[in-house]
Amino acid sequence: MPVPVPSGPFVPAGTVRVFDTTLRDGEQAPGAGLTAAEKLEVARQLVRLNVDVIEAGFPAASPGDWEAVNRIAKEVRGVAVAALARCRDGDPQKAIEAIRVAERPHLHVFIATSDIHLKHKLKITRDQALAEAVRWVRFGREQLGRDAEIEFSAEDASRTDPAFLLAIYEAVVAAGATTVNIPDTVGYAIPAEFGALVGRVVDLVGRDATISIHCHNDLGLATANTLAAVQAGARQVEVTINGLGERAGNASLEEVVMALRTRPTQFPELLSRVQTEHITTASRLVSHLTGFAIQPNKAVVGANAFAHESGIHQDGVIKNPLTYEIMTPQSVGLSGSQLTIGKLSGRKGLQKKLHDLGHDVSGDALDIVYREAIALADVKKEVTDADLLALLQQRSGDVPASIVMEGWSVTSSHGGRSTGSVRLTFDGDERAGESTGNGPVNALYRAVDEAIRPVLGWEPTLVEYEIKAVTEGEDAQGRVFLRCRRSTDTGPDAIIVTGHGLSTNIIEASLEAYVVAANKLWTAEQDEASLPALGSTERLP
Ligand code: KIV
Ligand code: ZN
Repeated sequence: MPVPVPSGPFVPAGTVRVFDTTLRDGEQAPGAGLTAAEKLEVARQLVRLNVDVIEAGFPAASPGDWEAVNRIAKEVRGVAVAALARCRDGDPQKAIEAIRVAERPHLHVFIATSDIHLKHKLKITRDQALAEAVRWVRFGREQLGRDAEIEFSAEDASRTDPAFLLAIYEAVVAAGATTVNIPDTVGYAIPAEFGALVGRVVDLVGRDATISIHCHNDLGLATANTLAAVQAGARQVEVTINGLGERAGNASLEEVVMALRTRPTQFPELLSRVQTEHITTASRLVSHLTGFAIQPNKAVVGANAFAHESGIHQDGVIKNPLTYEIMTPQSVGLSGSQLTIGKLSGRKGLQKKLHDLGHDVSGDALDIVYREAIALADVKKEVTDADLLALLQQRSGDVPASIVMEGWSVTSSHGGRSTGSVRLTFDGDERAGESTGNGPVNALYRAVDEAIRPVLGWEPTLVEYEIKAVTEGEDAQGRVFLRCRRSTDTGPDAIIVTGHGLSTNIIEASLEAYVVAANKLWTAEQDEASLPALGSTERLP
């Protein structure tokens, strides 16, 4: 039966479609698992950024990931929602079920095409791979109808025999694919070589489908390869915030988008629709939620990206910023301004400031941030943009709170052990704990364990603990990030959750993070679907 294939153009002339895969490939970075609520929070920020497609996850990987994709598909508007599926019975059905409700569903099916993957991983022939690709593209088209986007990816395309690669792309386009993606799955390609390959695919099927690319960063060339592909005719770029992703990561959204914007003569008449002023907020949110720090010298979003140290550079920038800045800090959402907030500062001023930072906050949420900002202004000389963003991020992810900290105290001295005690409630019932430890944080964590172990039957075990100052200065807020598992959960598939705490008192921040993690573990125990990727052991390319 002939398959009705929509006719182009699929991407408006003059634009490059930005397909953000932070929530799928980015989340596959080891240890970057996000809860459904956290994924939704990132999705909302991606909507503010104005990306074209959000790849929300891989629904067949776990019930939790299905749930997260479905929630995003239901909630977000004005953007396409994509779900990934292998060309294997069960996967596309689950993906379609999750995204059918989206305003613009985008099904993304893939199968490996390189001989090394076919022989050693899938153990099938090229003909079988081609037949499966055609079968599941056709299935997607039939299920989702003529207006949906059906994307096909040839995994490990850059190491695939080009003749076979072209044959499979031709076949899937005939079967109803409207986007064909050329992944450099293992980051093996070199820009000129990759551009030439993309050019051949453009010549073959570029009139009937959007040509997309998806580059990994194993040789540090993901952005370069992505840009070479755009110059060769690709019109969809698959990218992640901060370049998060498997192994060395994916091409980073901020680098690709700012390159298009900063070098118009190299990409004539081509722009993305991304609102670049929201880049910094998105970058910090993703870093905060995943716990993946941004290296200071990271292009566009690193702390030093707009810092000038040497006298010659400083002198030049003072005379004219264009001497050493190829883009303005404002263009990526760095105002550089300090907000002075005190007891007399008003809600309106704070609301406007948050708006400028990319967050529209009102009602109860504004009241909470306002109270916290005023309290912070009491203990800190200056409340900066970074402080405000940290306050907002601390509130994100709506973690259910059965365990609520009511009070704590600790004594600690040089050379001696520390003693800590806590008072908390568990679902409203008061509980207390006391313990010693090799430092104040350790003593308090053990005291929390004493208080909750009788109810839970386990305590959180720390897998990772990190503390950082949000801003410079002695009165800076400390941000604690940690990962924990249940003490009884010792296997390789243990659920690992993250916890965050924020305070000018680093012991308070440490306790807050521990309690958040304990609450997440307790939620996961009752309902694993609530924590999508965290329990999943399935890994994708
Ligand atoms: O890297 C890769 O090949 C992928 C595909 C699933 C697009 O992530
Ligand atoms: Zn990938």
